[in-house]
Amino acid sequence: MSVERLNLAAPRHIAIIMDGNGRWAQQRFLPRAVGHHAGVKAVRKIVEFCAADSTCEVLSLFAFSSENWNRPESEVSILMALFLTTLQSEIDKLHKNNIRLCFIGDRTAFDSALQQKMNEGEQKTKDNTALTLVIAANYGGRWDMAQACKVISERVAAGELSSHEINETVINKHLSLSDFPEPDLFIRTGGEQRVSNFMLWQLAYTELYFTPILWPDFNQIALQEAITSFQSRQRRFGYTGDQITVIANP
Ligand code: IPE
Ligand code: IPE
Ligand code: MG
Repeated sequence: MSVERLNLAAPRHIAIIMDGNGRWAQQRFLPRAVGHHAGVKAVRKIVEFCAADSTCEVLSLFAFSSENWNRPESEVSILMALFLTTLQSEIDKLHKNNIRLCFIGDRTAFDSALQQKMNEGEQKTKDNTALTLVIAANYGGRWDMAQACKVISERVAAGELSSHEINETVINKHLSLSDFPEPDLFIRTGGEQRVSNFMLWQLAYTELYFTPILWPDFNQIALQEAITSFQSRQRRFGYTGDQITVIANP
């Protein structure tokens, strides 16, 4: 994270763990699937808000973790079906709203119809500029680091790269989010205060915000509250508070 970013009042990249769909449904004595459907509606609202916000360039949403395959098969298939129908109905709308869609994670585990839709969504929206929406699907921060290590070691073995040249910049270049600024603001809904294998490398200096609101209830007002909390903080990146004040007000 560079010092130039210190003056920034609003987050350029917001990364969200959308948690609490299951509990939202259970509180209403409804099947967990209903919570996941309600979660998609919340996604629409938050994407709309971020697309209208001129400072927010990237919105990353954790949709399915590499560990979520451990859930009951019935829930996994509901999530896969919902993923596909959501892409079928939303890609054109995202494109119309000038939103670029990207996916991070190991997509080879998904069935071919889903992979095809993911590729189509990325292709169709690749030149859009209002917002980049990153969906983390079958994603894990550890997976990302492992796949980067694999590619780097292959490049060393092929003689393209020397092991002495491996540094943070080289590693970063091989990670899924290398094209984007690091998240400024991390939000986790649903009350748990953990990172659950999301963006382990990139969260190094991200401001963390936890809210008990369950994801289907998370809305523009709640997001604005998170942004306001972010704006009240002093990011130090290892400097002292006094140094930061000087850098911010030269
Ligand atoms: C997040 O909600 C959505 C996914 C992980 C796909 P959960 O399904 O984890 O909801 P809770 O945490 O059980 O309430
Ligand atoms: C994190 O939520 C993953 C997503 C929101 C997609 P989980 O509900 O899977 O996380 P844990 O298991 O409570 O840590
Ligand atoms: Mg959960």
